[in-house]
Amino acid sequence: MKNKTLLVTGGAGFIGANFVHYWMRNHANDKVIVLDALTYAGNRANLDAVADNANFRFVHGDICDTVLVESLLREESVDTLVHFAAESHVDRSITGPDAFIETNIIGTYSLLKAAKKVWIDEGLNKEGHRFHHVSTDEVYGTLGPKDPAFTEDTAYAPNSPYSASKAASDHLVRAYHHTYGLNITTSNCSNNYGPYHFPEKLIPLVLTNILHDKALPIYGDGQQIRDWLYVEDHARGIELVLEKGQVGENYNIGGHNEWANIDIVNEICRLMNKAFATRPVLAEKYPEAKAATAGKAESLITYVADRAGHDRRYAIDARKTNAELGYKPYESFESGIAKTIEWYLSNDTWWKAVMDGSYLNWLTQQYGKPEE
Ligand code: NAD
Ligand code: DAU
Repeated sequence: MKNKTLLVTGGAGFIGANFVHYWMRNHANDKVIVLDALTYAGNRANLDAVADNANFRFVHGDICDTVLVESLLREESVDTLVHFAAESHVDRSITGPDAFIETNIIGTYSLLKAAKKVWIDEGLNKEGHRFHHVSTDEVYGTLGPKDPAFTEDTAYAPNSPYSASKAASDHLVRAYHHTYGLNITTSNCSNNYGPYHFPEKLIPLVLTNILHDKALPIYGDGQQIRDWLYVEDHARGIELVLEKGQVGENYNIGGHNEWANIDIVNEICRLMNKAFATRPVLAEKYPEAKAATAGKAESLITYVADRAGHDRRYAIDARKTNAELGYKPYESFESGIAKTIEWYLSNDTWWKAVMDGSYLNWLTQQYGKPEE
């Protein structure tokens, strides 16, 4: 297969960084350029493992900067754009939707304009290009307990400013294919978990709060359901869409792994209690983690006010992706959560820096000022 040159937007975030690691391990001869604005969620350290690779380049910049994107597509002869960059946290979209409209809608539009101009209008890669858009199951809205899982044909019904902004971007991507012939694919994935997950999201928040002996906030009655997938299995799904997916199509990616929030939090508490019980060194490393050391991490669970407009249930039907692309997640929840817990127990430098707000100082110490 011909070597590719990928432009990965948002590659310093949670899923983007995991995707870059996965891709560079499995496609050693491809070139990967990450374009990331390094918002609060973006972290240069997430890319340390590939930073010295000659086939890797980091560009600190904004996807809304269409001229920058055009010049990267031209000067690097990019053939594949994988678009992760977004504002991704639902709670933040409720308190401050502006950034979501700007990045998720205007930013995606900026990328589409640049891709059309360089690849189609200037004819630099009229046939062989691919614009892959990373979307979410949240665009399909919410499910009742007995409803069938979302398929690619489920009508869009986004409920939060975040999911509405993602839905708008999905529609723009679709329109650029239909109207201008841009070679697009879109994937809609369920909730991811794994290494480098920013500790504002449920699973890393619970893990790091247990280690700090802080409350584990459960919104509402805790019976909302999410469908969890290990992040590398998302990367593998995107790889299959890039390699075998039909241009113009949407593909659902998910692991058939629904959990009520309270159940997943209790399960993480059980696993953390077990880790502390079997490895006394953890109590020494994490002296604050008093509840876990006493085998009672679940005592930290605290019910709090519900999220406004909280979607009750998400579930992904990935049968099309399974049948057409041969997609199958590798990790069970048991193996994926065990890897995730180990990663957080071993990478306290990473999450402490992110959580105590010293990340920017730490970044400057590690790298100097972010490069252009
Ligand atoms: P994240 O918040 O961890 O990372 C987002 C990244 O985008 C950060 O590195 C940030 O610096 C960068 N970014 C933000 N605005 C930018 C801009 N204007 N220009 C350039 N870079 C910018 O997000 P994530 O959880 O890794 O999600 C990545 C993508 O996957 C998003 O599009 C999200 O909608 C989608 N998705 C996420 C999940 C999930 O469970 N996290 C599930 C399905 C789909
Ligand atoms: O479904 C895919 C989506 O999953 C992605 O598109 C989003 O980018 C990603 O953030 C995620 O959205 P959620 O809102 O489902 O994830 P979050 O981790 O914020 O919350 C998971 C569930 O846990 C949700 O029902 C809200 C609840 N929750 C969350 C937090 C942070 C709590 O009960 N307490 C909390 O403190």
